[in-house]
Amino acid sequence: MDADAIRAAYERQARTYDSLFGFVSRRARDEAIAAVNRLPGEAVLEVGVGTGLALPHYKAEKRITGIDLSQHMLAQARARVVALGLRHVEALLEMDAQATSFATGSFDIAVAMFVASVVPDPHALVRELRRVVKPGGTILFVNHFAREKGPVWWMERAMAPASSALGWHPDFRLGHIFTHADLAHAKIRTLRPLGLFRLVEIPN
Ligand SMILES: C[S@@+](CC[C@H](N)C(=O)[O-])C[C@H]1O[C@@H](n2cnc3c(N)ncnc32)[C@H](O)[C@@H]1O
Repeated sequence: MDADAIRAAYERQARTYDSLFGFVSRRARDEAIAAVNRLPGEAVLEVGVGTGLALPHYKAEKRITGIDLSQHMLAQARARVVALGLRHVEALLEMDAQATSFATGSFDIAVAMFVASVVPDPHALVRELRRVVKPGGTILFVNHFAREKGPVWWMERAMAPASSALGWHPDFRLGHIFTHADLAHAKIRTLRPLGLFRLVEIPN
C-alpha cells in the first residue's frame, strides 16, 4: 500500500476506528503503554498515533510527540488532547514515520502500535526509528504478526488480498520487518486476546 492508499483507508476509518479496531486492540495497546511507562527516559515518539487512543494513558512525566500520515486520524487525536487537557502531549504532526524530520537521537523511546503492517516499507520504519532514538533507548512494536502454520495462518493468507480495504496486511510476519540480529536482542511477548498480537521490544 502506498501513502495515498493509506490516507484513503484511514480517512474512511477515522470516525469508526475507536469503536471497531480500537476496541479489539485495547488490551494489547495497554500492554505497550505499560511497557513504555516502565522504561527510563521522558522523550517518547509515538508513530502512527492514529486517533490518539494511547495518549491519555502515558505517565504524566513522559513527553509525547505523535506523528501520523493521516490528517483525518490526527484530527481525532487533536480533539482528544483538547477535550482531556493532555499537557504531556507536546506535538501531533503530519509526518511519514519512514522518513521523519527529527534530528538523530531525539527520543528515548519510540513506539509503533499496529503500524508495522501498514507502512509500505517496514525496514525503512525500523531504520528511521533506530536513527531518531538515542543509543541505549528502546523501540517497541505491538502488532499482529502472522502465524507460521495452522488454521489461523490459512485465514491470514486468505484475507491478504483485502489489505488495501483493511488498511493493514493480515499475512505480515516478524521476518517482514526484523532482521535476525534484531530478533536475537528482542524481548517478544504474545498478548491477549487469543494471542492475536505480539509486543516486540528492541534495545537501540
Ligand atoms: C491501525 S492504525 C493504529 C493507530 C494507533 N497506533 C492505535 O494504536 O490505535 C495505523 C495508523 O498508522 C498510520 N500510518 C500508516 N502509515 C504511516 C506512515 N508511513 N507514517 C505515519 N503514520 C502512518 C495510519 O494513518 C493510521 O493512523
